[in-house]
Parts: sequence; structure tokens; C-alpha cells
Amino acid sequence: MTVSLRRKHLVSLKDLTFEEFFQILDVADELKRKHERNERIEPLRGKTLAMIFQKPSLRTRISFESGMNRYGGHAIYLGPEDIQLGKRETTADIARTISGCCDAIMARTFGHDIVVELARWARVPVVNGLTDREHPCQILADLMTVREKLGGLRGLKMAFLGDGNNVAHSLLHGCAKVGMHLSLAVPRGFEPKAEVIEEAKADAARTGAKLHVTHNLEEAVRGADALYTDVWASMGQEAEKAARAKVMKPYQLSMKVLKKAKPEAIVLHCLPAHRGEEITDEVIESPQSVVFDEAENRLHAQMSVLLQVMA
Ligand code: CP
Ligand code: NVA
Repeated sequence: MTVSLRRKHLVSLKDLTFEEFFQILDVADELKRKHERNERIEPLRGKTLAMIFQKPSLRTRISFESGMNRYGGHAIYLGPEDIQLGKRETTADIARTISGCCDAIMARTFGHDIVVELARWARVPVVNGLTDREHPCQILADLMTVREKLGGLRGLKMAFLGDGNNVAHSLLHGCAKVGMHLSLAVPRGFEPKAEVIEEAKADAARTGAKLHVTHNLEEAVRGADALYTDVWASMGQEAEKAARAKVMKPYQLSMKVLKKAKPEAIVLHCLPAHRGEEITDEVIESPQSVVFDEAENRLHAQMSVLLQVMA
């Protein structure tokens, strides 16, 4: 390894240097190979990860929890009723309390500011397990999957369809870091945040990634090597579900849309998927879909992060 991530937080992908980003992907590949050979290593023996969840989860919980077990450590699940973030005690007090007993914190929260605040006060590394603004671990696993399937990242084109949400934001940062072009086709009023685009463009200027937001689906999908979509209403937006479904419907990832990309294009979705809404059953079940590879790669990408920040 060439750079040390020891004791670093992972709040946003934008905070990683180019070297750190690629090192996380490289170590993740190595861990996956060891996992496939059933090689057991226990560098986290005696270490504990506190996992704070304000929202539901399947993938994030099982990948962090099984990852900690697999590498010799232990994970504690702290659900919404357990610590009642911001109600029972302050975020700063929680961060300092956990720091005395655990070796790292993973947090899935509504407000992004909560993870920022945890990182500000914690004396142990804090990893963002999804906020309303970003989902960095997901995008590390996704780019690992793209590289595994297509043999590279730089100069390839990804198209993201639907809502300019947390996943879209982290994808902007991730693609910018690795030099992958990203075209986001979103309905008017659902564009990613302007400041996230600006931050990502600063990295893109150095890596050559072209980042583009459009309302035109065809333009985004044309010549794409990878297509990505996510739910139209994220956790916390349930009340807007019907209204969002109406405006997002033209951005559904269907077979017709898939055929407009490169013939060998792969299909990504962070899951959970709403079949018949943002993606059709046929597309998600097609041989071009790599959604379960992405889900497995959450384990390897996150353990790459944890092994390095907890070193
Ligand atoms: N993709 C993802 O983060 O899944 P969960 O919400 O199930 O953790
Ligand atoms: N955008 C989705 C991602 C779920 C993994 C949400 O925030 O609900």
C-alpha cells in the first residue's frame, strides 16, 4: 500500500484523494480474491464497529456485520429506537461515548449533517452508510463492479436515470475521481445539487471525466457502457411517491432504453429495486444486469475501507 488511510473518516467520496480512491478499489479486489479462495484473515480481532441506523437496511447491515465477523471483529447494531439520535442525547455526546468503547462508527442517517457532526466529535473513524445527500460505500462497490465487468473505468460512459438523489451525488464524485464519463438524465426539478456538480467538476477537470446533466434520456443513454438507476422516492420521501412516479415515468429503465446503449452495456441498481417503476423486471433479470455483484461487492469495498481506516 502506498497511502495510509489510518483513522480517516469516509463521509463523502469527494474527501478521498485519487490515490486513496484507487487504493480502496485495489484492496477490495484483493480481499475478494482471498474470500473466493476461502482464505481466512482476522486483522480485526477484538475490534468493534458501532452501526447507527436511522433508516432501514438489508445490504448495508449484512455487509458491514458479516464483514466484521469474517475479519475477526464484532459489530453492534444500534437501531432508531436504541439511541434515538438527537432526541435522547446529542450527536456530539453519542460520538464521544462510542469512541470510548468501539473502534469505528458506521452511520446511516437522514441529515448528512449528522454524519458530519459524528465525524467532528468522534475519536474513531466514521463511515457514511447513506445519508439524504450521499451513499459513498455504494458507489465504491459499484465502481469496483464496473471495473471487474468491463476491465476499466477511465474513459467509459455511465448513464444514470431518474432522481438526482444521494446515489447520483456519490456517483458524480466517484466517476469524477476515476475519470469515468457520467450523463444523468433526470426530470426538470430533480437535478443533483449544483454544489455537488461543482465539487465533482473540480476533480473531473483533473481526470478528464465528462459530467453532464440532461432532461433527455436518449442523449444520456447513447453510447453508454453502463446504465444505472435507483428508486424514484428515497427513504424519507414516501409521501411524495405518487407525484414523483408520475414525473419520473419517462425515465424508466426498460429493454427499449437498454437497447439504445452499447450492446454489451451492463445494468446497475443499488437495490432495493421497485420493479415496474424505475426498472422493469425484464431488465433487472437480464444477463446484462450486475445488481447482485454490486450487492456482494459492498462487502469487499467496505471491508477495504474498514481494514485501512481501523489499521
Ligand atoms: N443499497 C443499499 O444500501 O441497500 P440497503 O438500503 O438495503 O442497505
Ligand atoms: N436513494 C435510495 C437508496 C437506497 C439504498 C434511498 O436513499 O432510499
